[in-house]
Formats: sequence, structure tokens, C-alpha cells
Amino acid sequence: MMKLKRSHKVMEMNESLQGEKVVLAGWVQKRRDHGGLIFVDLRDRSGVCQVVFNPETGDDVFSVAEQIRNEYVIAVSGTVMLRPEDMFNEKLETGKVEIYVDQIEVLNQSKTAPFMISDDIDVDESVRLRYRYLDLRRPEMQQNMILRHKTIKAIRDYLDQMDFIEVETPILTKSSPEGARDYLVPSRVNPGNFYALPQSPQLFKQLLMVSGYEKYFQIARCFRDEDLRADRQPEFTQLDMEVSFMDKDDILTLNENMVSYVFKKVLDRDVPVPFKRITYQEAIERYGSDKPDLRFGMELKDITEIASGSDFKVFADIAKKGGQIKAINAKGCATFTRKEIDDLTKYASIYGAKGLAYMVITADEVKSPIAKFFKEEEIQAILKELEAKEGDLLLFVADTPQIVADSLGHLRIELAKKLSLIDQEELNFLWVIDFPLLEWDDEDKRYAAMHHPFTSPVAEDIELMTTDQAGGIRAEAYDMVLNGVEVGGGSLRIFRRELQEKMFTLLGFSDEEARSKFGYLMDAFEYGTPPHGGIALGLDRLVMLMAKKDSIREVIAFPKTQSATDMMTDTPSGVSEKQLKELNIKVDMKKK
Ligand code: AMO
Ligand code: AMP
Repeated sequence: MMKLKRSHKVMEMNESLQGEKVVLAGWVQKRRDHGGLIFVDLRDRSGVCQVVFNPETGDDVFSVAEQIRNEYVIAVSGTVMLRPEDMFNEKLETGKVEIYVDQIEVLNQSKTAPFMISDDIDVDESVRLRYRYLDLRRPEMQQNMILRHKTIKAIRDYLDQMDFIEVETPILTKSSPEGARDYLVPSRVNPGNFYALPQSPQLFKQLLMVSGYEKYFQIARCFRDEDLRADRQPEFTQLDMEVSFMDKDDILTLNENMVSYVFKKVLDRDVPVPFKRITYQEAIERYGSDKPDLRFGMELKDITEIASGSDFKVFADIAKKGGQIKAINAKGCATFTRKEIDDLTKYASIYGAKGLAYMVITADEVKSPIAKFFKEEEIQAILKELEAKEGDLLLFVADTPQIVADSLGHLRIELAKKLSLIDQEELNFLWVIDFPLLEWDDEDKRYAAMHHPFTSPVAEDIELMTTDQAGGIRAEAYDMVLNGVEVGGGSLRIFRRELQEKMFTLLGFSDEEARSKFGYLMDAFEYGTPPHGGIALGLDRLVMLMAKKDSIREVIAFPKTQSATDMMTDTPSGVSEKQLKELNIKVDMKKK
């Protein structure tokens, strides 16, 4: 064990300690030999400080200093000395002092690390994930973890003040429908039966409302077997909450105030409340997305009507078939090359666009392969609708409303990035409200719940549930969006059995199916269930945005790769025959 006893954190080294004896412990960031002296940058969790070895101190100490290498773990005792003013290191917070060492203890050695333990490393993420324990040693990652800790602490403090209590709910449970596939866990003692890992604590938190807890929250781990992206992990963390006797405004206000408190507390950033609110319909129409980024304009403009009378057959036909023609104005982009426009066309095609028509606005003409199909007044109407000026580039997509929204919505963001239109400092929070209750599933030829089946329809739309206009029913659902990222979603819930049954019927569940899957919830509804609602914020996404990162993997200590594996522990992996036998499981792998 350590003989020297640590007296200070590295970061505490400053001129007020001048002349004092201290003991520091940490990792060797860097060693430099200079004119007989050896300088070591010593790093602990708090920061970095320079320690100095002088040969005059004695060979026993100096010869050890000569042998230490990067990432060795050492403890040193020494005296804090003020550096001469011209030797201050402005880059280090501890840069006005250095520690003259009189004793050193090498606590452990280190092999040469596969990458530098410092910020701004240029190394493949797979290497970082394989050696995650070293990656997490880098100051940047430590800051991310500390930020995450502080955020969770601030959330707990705030909700505690607001009279919430934190309750844990099961991990081994029954399927909770949030639209993804379940992770299943076989039961040894109940052969042939499986638990599902929770996609969210949705049903348990509603049951806690039945139990009279009134204000619940949980920092909850959720599991979803779905296609992964930069902001999706197979296991992730929600700040999950549920309340009774509050209306929608109360819930939105509570959450805005909480987020505002957290950003002030953790980042010292002011987040003004209330947040802007925009309906789902408006979000799709103007921005082509249900999580619009309002940090820049470039709105989608509908020119279906103008184009329907034109001689451009593609547009006229699509308009006739009930499709849409919309456009965005890429301001000042008239200088884009053929290749740049081709690249944008390719990008739009990812989202289903079958083409990307364009008009280049110059001083004396509208240059476009499709201009000849439009009458002068049609061109003028388009320019007016898009507020087009000389130097602009107009981009058009004609298709079903969904493809038009999706492709132009994504193109809008791609262009904003390309043109640096986004203020990286801005925190643009908003609520998207009035979501549709249902979504038509063309494959299964039936409705699916847009949020989840426990979301309440808007009261005045309930009567539509038994008609052929069910697609138009609005839900009491809301999403919180920050800078174009969906950071949270929730709803007021159905809390009466009859309405819940009606909902299951609408979703195509037989009575039998509904009973076997959710019977316990509907039974519970019959014992005095209060009106209730809630929300879950994606904690990883929130912290990612707070840390200004592009991936939630940067704020999760041990994340999985895009293919849901952990490269460090080599998970998932095979199990022994014995284990499988105990679980009554036979693996039947088809050869690919
Ligand atoms: P929802 O499914 O919208 O709602 O999830 C809430 C929030 O969780 C985050 N999130 C994810 N984060 C990382 N990786 C994932 N795979 C992932 N999936 C979702 C998102 C999302 O907004 N039970 C409801 C909430 C409620 O109704 O109260 C629910 O889970 O930021
Ligand atoms: P074409 O007549 O197919 O040569 O197309 C002429 C222009 O219209 C090209 O720039 C195409 O990219 C564009 N275009 C074709 N189909 C569509 C569509 N559905 N939406 C938008 N532009 C399209």
C-alpha cells in the first residue's frame, strides 16, 4: 500500500500554499528532462500540476524519477514553490506554482497506452471503446461523467423540493410497449417462460398513481432492441416521471422549470421559460419534422397549387394524385456547382425523394431545367412564396406529404450545417403538442399508437374513435425538443377502463390479447384511479447536448457500438451448454 499519505488534490496547488509541504498522487501525464532537472506533469481527477525533481535531492529520488514513464501511478511529497513570473504556465490552472519533490513512491507501472491520455486525440472510436477504462481517464471524458453526475443530482434536488419521491421499478418484467423489440430473459425456474427487460417503466409508474403516490420519478434504465444511431443505445437512461391531479399545462410548466433549474445549476446558463409551443401539424408543415430545429429559418413552402397548373408533368401529376410540392430557399446558394446540387439530390433521396428540382435566381433570369414548363406568372408566384432574391437557390420536392416533409426537413438541416447557419451557443427549447393519437401502419393495415396505447385522446376527439376518421384524433401528448433533438416525450393517460378497452380495440387487439397483456392495468383502473400523466426525458441525450457532443456514447461510461456490442467485455457472447440446458434452451443457428 501507499506509504505517503495524500494531502491535497492537484487542482488545489496555488500560490497561497507557497512554501508548504504537500503530498500528491496521480498519473504521469508527461515527463521531460531539462538541463539536469526532470519535470513531470502529474494528473489526478481534479487536474494537472508540474512537479520537479532536482538531482541534488539525492540519487534515490532522482534515479526513480528517471525511470518513470507516462501513466505510471506515483505519489510525491514536496514543497510548493512559486514559479518566476516569466515561467508562469497560462495553460495550466496550477501554472503559477510547481512542487519540488523530496520523496517519490511508484505505486504502479503502466504499459504504453494505445493512445495519449489527453483531449483532442485522433483515434478510431473502436479503439477507444476497446480500452474504455483508458478513454475514461482522459480529462474530457471525466468532465462528461462529472457533468452527467451533476445533472442527475440537480434533477433529484429539484424534484425532491417539489415533493416527488423516487421509486424503483422492476427490470425483470413483462413487455412494455414503446414500439421497439424487447430484450428477453429466460426463466430457469419457469421453463419456457421469459421476462422482458423494460422499454420504459410506463405501466409501473401508472400503477404507482393508482397506489396514491401522486408524484413519482426515477432515473430509470430502459432497454430497447432497435436500430441504433448516434442518439440511440440499446440500454439508455430516462428521467421518468408521473403525477396525479395535474393538467397538461402543469406538467409542461413543471418540466420547463426543472430544465431551467438544471441548466442554471450545472452550466450557469439561463434557459427562459415558458418554452415556445408548436403543434405537430405546424411543425411538419413548416419544418418537415416533429422535432424541428428553430435555430434557423429556411422554412418549407407549399407550392402545390401553383405547380398543379404548370406544364411540368411530374409536378402536375403528383398534385393531381393528392401529393404535395414543396420547396426551400437556400439563401445565397446560387453559386452551388452541379456536383453540390447532385450531392443534395442524393441526400434527399435517402429520405425517399425521387428527384430534387431547382431554380437558380440570377440578376436577369431564373436558371432551371424545369423553368420552361412554367408560365411567367407561375414563376413569379413561386419566387414570391419563397421570398426569393437574386443569388438564391430554390430546391423542390414533389411526392407524398410524408416524403416531402422527410426529405426537405432533412435537407434543411443538412444545408444549415453546410452553410454554418446554426448558432452553436443557442439553447432552443420547445414543446411539440397536439400529436395525432394514431399512426396508420401500411404493412399491417391497421392503426398503431403514435406515442403508446395508454395516451389519452383529446376529450372532444373521443367520439371519433368509432368512426372512419380515427386517423384525425389528437392525443394529449407532448415532446420536449432541444436544438432539433427529441429530448423527452409524455402524455396525459387514459385512466378509465372503458376508454382503455376502446383504445385497444382501435389498435386491433382482441379482448383476449388485451386481457393477457394488460389485464392487470385494466383491473387496477377499477379501484379508484386518479387522473394522471407524465413524461420521460432521455437523460443521455440531454447530457449530450449540455456537453455539446454529437453522440450519446460520449456521455455514457460504457456504451455499446452501433451493432449493440461491448468491445471491451466482448458482449454479447456465447454461453456454456450447461447454462443453456438449465434454461431449457436450444440454439438453432441457421447457416447464412
Ligand atoms: P419515449 O419512448 O418517447 O417515451 O422515450 C422518452 C425519451 O427517451 C429517449 N430515448 C432514447 N434515448 C437513447 N436511446 C434510445 N434508444 C432511446 N429511446 C428513447 C428520448 C425520448 O424522448 N414511457 C414513455 C414516456 C411517457 O409517456 O411518460 C416513453 O418511454 O429522448
Ligand atoms: P426529369 O424530367 O426526370 O429529367 O426531371 C427534371 C428535374 O426535376 C430534375 O432536376 C429532377 O431531379 C427533378 N425531379 C424529378 N422528379 C421529382 C420529384 N418527384 N420531386 C422533385 N423534383 C423532381
